[in-house]
Amino acid sequence: MHLSIVFPTLALLSSAEAAETLLGAYIFHRHGDRTPKALAPANLTSLGYDQVYTSGQYFRSRFLSNSSSKIYKLNSDVVKLSQISVTAPVDNVLQNSAMGFLQGLYPPVGEELNVQTLSNGSKVQTPMNGYQLIPVNAVAQGSGSEDSGWLQDASGCENAELSSNNYFSSSDYTKLLNSTKGFYEELVPVVNATFDPSYVTFKNAYIVYDLINVATIHNTSIPSNATLTPGNLLQTRTLADAHEWGLAYNVSDDMRAMAGMQLAGEILKYMNSTITSGSAGLSSNKLGIQFGAYASFFSFFGLASLPAANPDFMGIPDYASSMVFELFTDAAVPSDGFPATSDLQVRFSFHNGTASNFSEPVAYPLFGGKDLAISWNSFADSLSKFAVTTTQDWCTKCGNTTGTCAPYASSTPAPSSTAKSSGGHSGISAAVGGVIGAFVTLAVILGTLAAAMLIGGLRVVSKKRLAGGSPAVEGVATGKA
Ligand SMILES: *[C@@H]1O[C@H](CO)[C@@H](O)[C@H](O)[C@H]1NC(C)=O
Ligand SMILES: *[C@@H]1O[C@H](CO)[C@@H](O)[C@H](O)[C@H]1NC(C)=O
Ligand SMILES: *[C@@H]1O[C@H](CO)[C@@H](O)[C@H](O)[C@H]1NC(C)=O
Ligand SMILES: *[C@@H]1O[C@H](CO)[C@@H](O)[C@H](O)[C@H]1NC(C)=O
Ligand SMILES: *[C@@H]1O[C@H](CO)[C@@H](O)[C@H](O)[C@H]1NC(C)=O
Ligand SMILES: *[C@@H]1O[C@H](CO)[C@@H](O)[C@H](O)[C@H]1NC(C)=O
Ligand SMILES: *[C@@H]1O[C@H](CO)[C@@H](O)[C@H](O)[C@H]1NC(C)=O
Ligand SMILES: *[C@@H]1O[C@H](CO)[C@@H](O)[C@H](O)[C@H]1NC(C)=O
Ligand SMILES: *[C@@H]1O[C@H](CO)[C@@H](O)[C@H](O)[C@H]1NC(C)=O
Ligand SMILES: *[C@@H]1O[C@H](CO)[C@@H](O)[C@H](O)[C@H]1NC(C)=O
Ligand SMILES: *[C@@H]1O[C@H](CO)[C@@H](O)[C@H](O)[C@H]1NC(C)=O
Ligand SMILES: *[C@@H]1O[C@H](CO)[C@@H](O)[C@H](O)[C@H]1NC(C)=O
Repeated sequence: MHLSIVFPTLALLSSAEAAETLLGAYIFHRHGDRTPKALAPANLTSLGYDQVYTSGQYFRSRFLSNSSSKIYKLNSDVVKLSQISVTAPVDNVLQNSAMGFLQGLYPPVGEELNVQTLSNGSKVQTPMNGYQLIPVNAVAQGSGSEDSGWLQDASGCENAELSSNNYFSSSDYTKLLNSTKGFYEELVPVVNATFDPSYVTFKNAYIVYDLINVATIHNTSIPSNATLTPGNLLQTRTLADAHEWGLAYNVSDDMRAMAGMQLAGEILKYMNSTITSGSAGLSSNKLGIQFGAYASFFSFFGLASLPAANPDFMGIPDYASSMVFELFTDAAVPSDGFPATSDLQVRFSFHNGTASNFSEPVAYPLFGGKDLAISWNSFADSLSKFAVTTTQDWCTKCGNTTGTCAPYASSTPAPSSTAKSSGGHSGISAAVGGVIGAFVTLAVILGTLAAAMLIGGLRVVSKKRLAGGSPAVEGVATGKA
């Protein structure tokens, strides 16, 4: 009789001991459905709002509500601002996406919570049923990226631009440009209300795909829609995938992936701050959330060898996709501290499109490995190999010497060899013309530049140089706060 009681108890105990505790997380998120880039300014649509809101609700149930997967000591109803960090470039689509996500993550707390009593005894309830205010901080780079004409436009990184331009002289590119001529000619009647026929080639694969993709979601009267067979739609998408991957990552030239290097730096710094504040007995810096564009996903996917885990990683992530880095431990967590660093592990997961209760992120091995979880130490080592964490590092790698980078100019070596190998300036402008994509680069630079923009009203205007006869979408990206 005794045994039958003892055994289940033991089993329970051991499973409790093996249970993991989630200590923190970092989420990188794509915006929701939006209007096409070709018709700037792009706006988040109602559908897009709904997507990011749903994703916010999902992460609420995963990280805030569910007692078995909740982040340790993270407030679950009333937000504590020191525990979370939310960032996005100055871009309407990305910032609004972040806001929509937060409404799902920390919804209004209702009548009871968040009531304050004033000195004269009056009670005050916040407006909108306890709606919670959560700031979305701006990262200085990537401004206007959803309106940007080509992917490096929003990056401001000279050597990354040069590297991406090299793609246009690669044989991968020239072969596809040639072999897809006929395919794009067929598409002209579908898009000629917006694009000059000469613009509709593989050179502009993403913006052409983007316009058609948005139209298939929103437009009930697409001209010549008979051309848009499922096969042709897939082809426009696949060609855009190849084009944008080529611009965002090259295995022998890391500079192209500056956006991913910056994101890696952001992740590393934030997760490290989760550990340092936890070790200091604080419960701050638990959840980092950053919104950005698909090109940053691509650059990071390449740097982290994710295509080795699944070749789908070379396809543009759908709207409202998210990747998640979870910091957890199987060891006991001291009530006023943190487990030893050697007991910490990291798990990467990704969800293509809106995550929800019905379709959750899936874990993948990073860095070409096999394990779905790796130790924090090895994660930090691998990420440090390419992460850009300081302004000086950014300036040196980018070869920028003016503005924010002026203080480091004297210590800046010559631009990287890959940059020098580019085709020079005339080649560049030819290549830049009309390339499309979004490239949100994330944040290393710039407290100062951001401050200059906010305080001094400095405007950064980036001009798109679309091919002749292309739509009137000039100079949209602005750094104006
Ligand atoms: C986006 O919204 C602005 C007004 O806020 C409007 O002028 C613009 O036409 C909209 N863009 C599209 C593509 O609908
Ligand atoms: C809570 O999370 C656990 C572990 O991820 C999962 O198995 C369980 O279904 C979740 N419970 C609810 C109510 O969502
Ligand atoms: C208490 O103070 C608030 C804010 O100054 C004021 O709006 C309110 O009318 C005061 N209530 C009373 C009962 O005096
Ligand atoms: C870096 O240099 C490029 C080319 O000179 C310039 O366009 C860009 O604005 C610079 N970026 C920053 C952040 O200074
Ligand atoms: C990648 O870089 C190498 C070396 O710079 C170059 O030979 C190759 O063509 C590049 N590939 C692409 C797709 O740009
Ligand atoms: C482009 O393709 C055609 C055949 O479709 C071929 O004859 C021609 O040599 C190709 N040109 C280049 C530059 O590859
Ligand atoms: C677009 O192409 C169709 C079919 O060739 C033609 O009838 C139409 O006039 C063109 N529209 C514009 C705006 O050029
Ligand atoms: C093409 O458009 C017409 C109306 O313009 C519509 O009736 C038809 O269903 C559309 N066909 C497809 C395949 O979308
Ligand atoms: C739908 O497509 C037609 C033809 O390209 C275009 O004139 C119209 O503005 C589009 N409508 C929307 C809502 O995008
Ligand atoms: C984490 O932060 C500590 C203290 O600031 C620093 O010494 C350490 O190098 C950082 N580690 C990483 C991987 O950034
Ligand atoms: C996301 O899904 C699309 C199809 O909807 C696919 O083409 C792409 O490869 C996927 N991307 C990733 C990163 O899984
Ligand atoms: C998702 O699942 C959690 C746990 O079962 C539940 O609390 C939450 O309401 C669900 N969310 C939605 C949107 O169904």
